[in-house]
Amino acid sequence: MTAIAVVGAQWGDEGKGKIIDMLAEKAAVVVRYSGGDNAGHTVINSRGEFKLHIIPSGIFYSHTTCIIGNGTVINPAVLIGEMDNLSQRGVDLSRLYISDRAHVIMPYHILLDGLEEDKLGGNALGTTRKGVGPAFTDKAARLGIRVGDLMDKPGFLKRLNLVLERKNQILTKVYGVQPLVLEEVYQQYCRYADRLAPHVRETSEMLDSALKKKEIVLLEGAQGVLLDPDFGTYPYTTSSSPMAAGACLGAGIGPNQVRQVLAVFKAYCTRVGGGPMPTELKDDIGEAIRQCAHEFGTTTGRPRRCGWFDGVVARFSARINGYTGLAITRLDVLDNFPKLKICTAYHLDGKTIDELPARTEDLERCQPAYEEMDGWMTPISGIRQYSHLPVEARRYIKRLEELCN
Ligand code: IMP
Ligand code: MG
Repeated sequence: MTAIAVVGAQWGDEGKGKIIDMLAEKAAVVVRYSGGDNAGHTVINSRGEFKLHIIPSGIFYSHTTCIIGNGTVINPAVLIGEMDNLSQRGVDLSRLYISDRAHVIMPYHILLDGLEEDKLGGNALGTTRKGVGPAFTDKAARLGIRVGDLMDKPGFLKRLNLVLERKNQILTKVYGVQPLVLEEVYQQYCRYADRLAPHVRETSEMLDSALKKKEIVLLEGAQGVLLDPDFGTYPYTTSSSPMAAGACLGAGIGPNQVRQVLAVFKAYCTRVGGGPMPTELKDDIGEAIRQCAHEFGTTTGRPRRCGWFDGVVARFSARINGYTGLAITRLDVLDNFPKLKICTAYHLDGKTIDELPARTEDLERCQPAYEEMDGWMTPISGIRQYSHLPVEARRYIKRLEELCN
């Protein structure tokens, strides 16, 4: 049929894993198109609860091909650990494929992620310290090592030798830590290569043939639009594009193949890590949301910052991604609030604005302008039909739809 991009519309953790898991039942292929194991998707199904960081959430269906796309960066140790965990729990991995163009997270990336964050001190970005940023840095700097490179051992050794020499200079001379030993890294990554080799493919060809057969291809994003390096709250962003446009690039298909762009929004906002978040609630309400929804990071366990739904962010996110549909998750978290707030504009330096400022310093000074709505004060998690929702809940959803245009 067509390719459907599933995009995290806020700061990540909107529940993409759950939505992909539902949609994957009807999909032939699911592709992860960006990020690395900084992402964390929780999927709960009949086999139990699974926390996935790099393997697409479609893996639970025996008919679904799962691809880790060229736009990702892969820590082989994490990937292999996830594969082992899944196969021990009876999940078939024969339809898991890895793009030979995806970049590999190397031990120096992980070291540097931590060292750079420590060096920034109070200005730290709050990264997940998984080496994702440094791996994408090397991709842009033409110093990366790709999955395909691991498949040719002599070539890999040559490349690693060249890159490691430079990385060791930074490790020893800038940060004063021990250098990495070429032979050790090489041997370790050769073992990973042997293990992953049966899964490595030119994956964009696989997508092309699925699309030609009119099968459904799901493009699974990681993180959220407000963490995009171009449009997010730079520099408090991640380093690859979670946007719908990033899906084409990170999977290797043309934009005209993407017929649906499904935005996944939480019914409120959360953010993990540093950077501005205008509707953040540092009070009892924020704490109540965090406890009720168990808002702690899947990858790092950090408490997520919680706040009211931000309509300025939502409108911006909708405009730059061209959403064709919204999936609103965790509405039931708001069951017990008599009054709900939605931010519809910001106050900045005596003016009211309804666009997201580009500069983080400006966004940090923005005060949310709220509109208040009545809560529904009744449990809704058992409700399966829109028309059965309390009228206040339907009004709330309607308002989110309006704000997203
Ligand atoms: P990095 O992607 O590890 O470099 O982290 C950069 C920023 O993105 C930090 O604020 C992280 O907390 C945030 N981040 C990265 N991955 C995720 C995710 O999957 N969900 C939510 N936030 C994330
Ligand atoms: Mg997550």
